[in-house]
Amino acid sequence: MLMEWNGSLEVGCKQIDDEHKHLLILANTLYDAIMARKRDPRAVLAHLRAFTGYLHLHFAHEEQLMRETGYPGLEAHTAEHAAFAREVDTLVAGSGVRTDYLDTVVSVVFRLMAGHRDSADAELALFLTRR
Ligand SMILES: [Fe+2]
Ligand SMILES: [Fe+2]
Repeated sequence: MLMEWNGSLEVGCKQIDDEHKHLLILANTLYDAIMARKRDPRAVLAHLRAFTGYLHLHFAHEEQLMRETGYPGLEAHTAEHAAFAREVDTLVAGSGVRTDYLDTVVSVVFRLMAGHRDSADAELALFLTRR
């Protein structure tokens, strides 16, 4: 397991928290597949695709919420999403299981669940709940 969900990770908007929770489950499954003693490259790729696919979906949901509510930080927040999306898409586009998968996956998940959640997502949640 890479990172366990706990209450301190909540931003206070149920939809966003539920999606972050699910994202973490997919990230942990991917991490376990990479760390498996008998690593199965096809399983790793399948879990990587599941994680990446859900990440895109989650970003799209947040961006939809921002547009619907006229959120003033839409542009900056969307730019952060795009940078994360580029990183994970690069991994998926690579063929086979590369050794740097683990570093990138760990780095992306930690930055997502720390920096991005703590600032961009927390600000958005505050805006949504105070409307
Ligand atoms: Fe976000
Ligand atoms: Fe998020």
